[in-house]
Amino acid sequence: MGCQMNVLDSELVLGQLCAIGYGPTDDYHSADLVLVNTCSVRQHAEDKVYSRLGEIGHAKPKRPGMIVGVIGCMAERDHEGIQRRAPHVDLLCGPGNLNELPALIAEVRETRGRGNVGQRAIALEHDHSRRKPAAQRISPHDSIEAFDLSRSPAPGRSVLQSYVRVQRGCDKFCSFCVVPFTRGPERSRPPDHVVQEAKKLAGLGAREITLLGQTVNSYSYAGNRRTVRFAELLERVHGVEGIERLRFVTSYPGDFTDDILEAMRDLPKLCEYLHLPAQSGSNTVLERMRRQYTVEQYTDLIDRARSIVPGISLAGDFIVGFPGETDREHAATLALVERIRYKSIYMFMYSQRPGTVADRRLIDDVPDEVKRRRHAELMALQKRISLTHHQPMIGDEVEVLVEGHSKAAVKARQGQGRQVSWRRTDQLTGRTRGDEIVVFTGPESLIGRFVAVKITAATALTLHGAVVPASDSLRSLAIA
Ligand code: F3S
Repeated sequence: MGCQMNVLDSELVLGQLCAIGYGPTDDYHSADLVLVNTCSVRQHAEDKVYSRLGEIGHAKPKRPGMIVGVIGCMAERDHEGIQRRAPHVDLLCGPGNLNELPALIAEVRETRGRGNVGQRAIALEHDHSRRKPAAQRISPHDSIEAFDLSRSPAPGRSVLQSYVRVQRGCDKFCSFCVVPFTRGPERSRPPDHVVQEAKKLAGLGAREITLLGQTVNSYSYAGNRRTVRFAELLERVHGVEGIERLRFVTSYPGDFTDDILEAMRDLPKLCEYLHLPAQSGSNTVLERMRRQYTVEQYTDLIDRARSIVPGISLAGDFIVGFPGETDREHAATLALVERIRYKSIYMFMYSQRPGTVADRRLIDDVPDEVKRRRHAELMALQKRISLTHHQPMIGDEVEVLVEGHSKAAVKARQGQGRQVSWRRTDQLTGRTRGDEIVVFTGPESLIGRFVAVKITAATALTLHGAVVPASDSLRSLAIA
């Protein structure tokens, strides 16, 4: 569950576990080890974890020997609650300790072998009193940095589009956000390590790399002689042979400098896509959120982005129903969305997170039905705007990296049972450089390649099109 950071962590954990003899299964009832990688960003995400843990709790007695673990942000934030409400959980591991997972699993096995059923293995970044012997067995070289660096994709998993972490944690302490409490302070990874990982992935078949950080543009690594900032890191990863597309998420408006926009303009592999969360269009709400920028500074940045990187595709994040949000402040958010005209936005209803400044100092006083109404208004507005981005693309030829079968094709196949194989020609999906989703019909052999697609229809969410034969394509697109 959760954000791209968690997707990456799950991927790394899977590779780590495959290296010690585990393999993935589709059915947790038959698993020796069940890990739930969790998110704490909203109450709803945590409720989902408890309900999943309840289901697993029913399966565990029927599978003697099964180990159940909770990893990720919620393990870090709410380890006491998990131990109280889900006593069948055998291990807890925060996102900053995932390198310790094999040792924790060994510890559970060992204590069970000695007849100590019920003793948990725990590794958390912010609760050193709870670090159990597993942590002591970790060699100093087996650090969380080594966890990323020793990345070995699980057999059969595609690395076509891969995430590479450039930063851990966050120092911004926005008043609503739990991330500094779950992922710790901001730490940038050595640039050589990031490049080394990108090279490794390219060698394994990656074509697109997305650099990840909670505030990715704040990247800053102080080396022996000089400090490497994000624009330079982009340039260095851009130089990795085999990588055709480079992206980054998520950016923090307060630290965004023009050298990054210039890199987007000048580096051909760097996609013209910018995800820049605004969170609100009202200065008073931004102040209560402790976002450390104003609406004017944000719109200025967007204007600069559009002038330096023509055709840039923009995405945003917004929270509706923040404590004290008035109709007028909400109207300011709608006005900002109308002014920026994002390609897409991610919108959330405010959820109070224990331990945050908003939780301690503000009252969650916007009624749920008002949050829902504001969310619906924002969604309706963005839907109209997204359509105005997509409709003029009808007739255009776009470059698409083919990712796999479309959701509809996957659903149809599941409906027919797993034994049904893909038809040779089926509905495929991929993305443009601007992150638009394109659905089209084509042979399975196109997966993993760049193709030219002529857009024939558009909805607010998706573009539909037809593959342009290589010889007809304007650029031939050097179909891989
Ligand atoms: Fe959730 Fe943790 Fe990501 S709280 S959004 S999984 S950083």
